[in-house]
Amino acid sequence: MRIDILTLFPQMFTDVLGSSILKRAGEDLPQRPAPVHYHLTDIRQYTNDKHGKVDRPPYGGGPGMVIQCQPVWDAVRSVEAQAAGPVTRILMTPKGRRLDQALVSDLATRPRLLIIAGHYEGIDSRVIEKLDPIEQISIGDYVLSGGELPAMVLVDALVRLVPGVLGDETSSECESFSSGCDGMLDHPHYTRPPIWEDMQVPPVLLSGDHGRIESWRREQSRQTTEQRRPDLLRVEGCATPGTNRQFADA
Ligand code: ADE
Repeated sequence: MRIDILTLFPQMFTDVLGSSILKRAGEDLPQRPAPVHYHLTDIRQYTNDKHGKVDRPPYGGGPGMVIQCQPVWDAVRSVEAQAAGPVTRILMTPKGRRLDQALVSDLATRPRLLIIAGHYEGIDSRVIEKLDPIEQISIGDYVLSGGELPAMVLVDALVRLVPGVLGDETSSECESFSSGCDGMLDHPHYTRPPIWEDMQVPPVLLSGDHGRIESWRREQSRQTTEQRRPDLLRVEGCATPGTNRQFADA
């Protein structure tokens, strides 16, 4: 998968893409070539303005600055021409569709993503219209100072689902919201030692009985989901808790 990120602040991404799983995903290893290739583009490099400006005050008045069409359009055209093949364009904006695990899984199957991280008051609407089709995505109902952190959230969530990224392919199988957990929240996790500060690991997990362990985990998932996120169990047409397929099928 190729991931292009267009931003006015490429330096914000270097530590995040250069650490942990995101870093490994971009590396060729002896057992496999890199599953993901990141390309950071500074939108400012594409401006025709001789002072390097990319933003102007909004027509009609109001606070802040609006990113102009020209540098965004030229950056997208230039980056898309760097490689052949279909590109999924994405704009991070609080006005977009709310990100969830179903959308993440869908995007993880695309061969190439181009993510635009806006900043300031936003981007001139005409260029967004001209970039159609473009998926507008929000990471939640709150406003951040720019699309950079949302772009990092999106990349982190989807890269770990790209085949070959997680060493153990099953480690993303059952986790909160995943189809492996029927869209429920994850069960609790424990590791050594078996007793810490008088607190014991649930004995079933030490029993070696995989059937019982599975049912215990499933029941824990169901209880946690019922307590904290009952909305995940209440899906139309879903009579049995724990058979919620909304995250798997959407
Ligand atoms: N830019 C600012 N706030 C945002 C949000 N919540 N999601 C996506 N992009 C944003």
